[in-house]
Amino acid sequence: MAILGGAGRMGRALVACAAGLDVAVTAVVASAHSAALGQDAGEMAGVRRLGVAVSSDLTAALRGAQVVVDFSSPLATRNHLEQCALARVPLLLGTTGLPDGIDADFARAAERMPLLVAANTSLGITLLLDLVQRAARALPGEFDVAICEAHHRAKRDAPSGTALALGDAVAAVRAGDVGYAVVRGGDIVGEHDVQFIGAGERLTLGHRATDRAIFARGALQAAVWLAGQAPGRYTMSDVLGIKSNA
Ligand SMILES: NC(=O)c1ccc[n+]([C@@H]2O[C@H](COP(=O)([O-])OP(=O)(O)OC[C@H]3O[C@@H](n4cnc5c(N)ncnc54)[C@H](OP(=O)(O)O)[C@@H]3O)[C@@H](O)[C@H]2O)c1
Repeated sequence: MAILGGAGRMGRALVACAAGLDVAVTAVVASAHSAALGQDAGEMAGVRRLGVAVSSDLTAALRGAQVVVDFSSPLATRNHLEQCALARVPLLLGTTGLPDGIDADFARAAERMPLLVAANTSLGITLLLDLVQRAARALPGEFDVAICEAHHRAKRDAPSGTALALGDAVAAVRAGDVGYAVVRGGDIVGEHDVQFIGAGERLTLGHRATDRAIFARGALQAAVWLAGQAPGRYTMSDVLGIKSNA
């Protein structure tokens, strides 16, 4: 498995989680100007020495990889998609704040390799997406929908990719606007609440992440699963078998 964005918060969590689960990490890729270049990826992640040096050589990383996990920068996404498609290596893309019009790139890439794009790779949010869609379908149109999210001060995109995915799950089954509220501060790992607000009552469905290991565990599980799939688009619901027809 190759990890792109390996020197970041999520990258280090992925390397640590992979080391704990004995998932083989074949390459850890950082940007060309990263301070982490040359370091042992395991030591950088605060676990044991893995004998994998952090590198910026994406081509070499793809050569030895059965699957790629990308939690890096949205500026790098188009290139990562193209390179994985050319090499026909499955890609799990966890990066958020993706550029407009990227869906066309996803469709092209997914013709050549398995592709899973997930703004949130946790079990809880995968289930929440389904529960929110069920509520949106069941509640009358008079209910307003508002999504409130909170993250650490260094998060770049707002609203979060997860908040937008929750909004998309609502918009797929009912008309009307979805409102967003955003909080940034401290070290909040990730909080999302979806409120359905009617006259005299309010339903709130929410999720609290307290440890980014949940995203890393879900991403690794998804990546191992994705490595065995045919070319095409997949979701975390496919991996975890969470999909109701309600
Ligand atoms: N899907 C999910 O469940 C989930 C969960 C949490 C976060 N995220 C998303 O994942 C992304 C990373 O989050 P984070 O908190 O880990 O951010 P972060 O700490 O800023 O890490 C991102 C890393 O990517 C590296 N990078 C930049 N350009 C690169 C390139 N071309 N190739 C390889 N690496 C490159 C960065 O710098 P250097 O390489 O220069 O060191 C940095 O180390 C964000 O978009 C975030 O919203 C998704």
